[in-house]
Amino acid sequence: PLLAQTLKAEAAELLKAKGAVLVAHYYVDGHLQDLALETGGCVSDSLEMARFGRNHAAQTLVVAGVRFMGETAKILSPEKTVLMPTLEATCSLDLGCPEAEFAAFCDAHPDRTVVVYANTSAAVKARADWMVTSSCALDIVNHLKSRGEKILWAPDRHLGRYIQEQTGADLLMWQGDCIVHNEFKGLELQLLREQYPDAPVLVHPESPRAVVDQADVVGSTSALIQAVVEGQAQRYIVATDNGILHRMRQLAPSKTLIEAPTAGNGATCKSCAHCPWMAMNSLRSLIECLKQGAPAVAVDEDTRIRAERCITRMLDFTA
Ligand code: 13P
Ligand code: SF4
Repeated sequence: PLLAQTLKAEAAELLKAKGAVLVAHYYVDGHLQDLALETGGCVSDSLEMARFGRNHAAQTLVVAGVRFMGETAKILSPEKTVLMPTLEATCSLDLGCPEAEFAAFCDAHPDRTVVVYANTSAAVKARADWMVTSSCALDIVNHLKSRGEKILWAPDRHLGRYIQEQTGADLLMWQGDCIVHNEFKGLELQLLREQYPDAPVLVHPESPRAVVDQADVVGSTSALIQAVVEGQAQRYIVATDNGILHRMRQLAPSKTLIEAPTAGNGATCKSCAHCPWMAMNSLRSLIECLKQGAPAVAVDEDTRIRAERCITRMLDFTA
């Protein structure tokens, strides 16, 4: 704790000296989440990270999360410097949806409205009509369906299937997945539920169908935290990245949180549900980034202008 306190104090000083604000995701190291809140920044889901970064007056944003979150911040605020502890922090959904293949997919289906998940590159967003996050995907797809639009969806196949089932919309899907959520399995969860029959099951919609089908609440990271804070139960089974437990414990200290098991050759692995790219963010890498003023996120202007449309559309829709 003393080491973390010392590093946190150093990072807080640097943030102040550089006029920078820290925007963190719920999956990053708990010390970074605390630092963001203690220094006037934010910790939130990806929709609110985008909104907070765009609306904040600071000239420098430091994004603790994965690359698409930094890119979204830069796309919305080209005049600001957007730093990240590392630009190597990617996402399997982004990696699994390369620009050229995605463009060919869109070209083959010109009659469809292109809706992409936030977890994509700036180049993929530049090709989209709408961006959505897990907290607004259902509302936006329902809206498009009511206008009679057919949708091309990318890249998360589990979220896509969930949206399709919930809305009845016509979705043609890219076949990507999240390497973290894809590891939650139905059978393991069912056995855990038998042990804790009173515990509601909270599931992020990037999880496979067999897991989502057992959920009491399906939602974005913010929605899952809200479910723990406002729920009547004393115990909860949580099927999402375990970085989220930090904020859940802070906001609901009296409640017991049980991690949903991930699978590995039949043996459960209790601690695998953590994104390796989110884990690249640390107090030390943040301090180094603030000292160096690097790495900074860059998006070429042509791509940025085209990508901005689909993000702004989402922010306006959810305002
Ligand atoms: P949220 O938008 O729900 O925070 O999810 C982002 C993410 O990367 C989930 O894996
Ligand atoms: Fe991407 Fe999954 Fe990591 Fe979220 S948890 S950033 S979806 S790999």
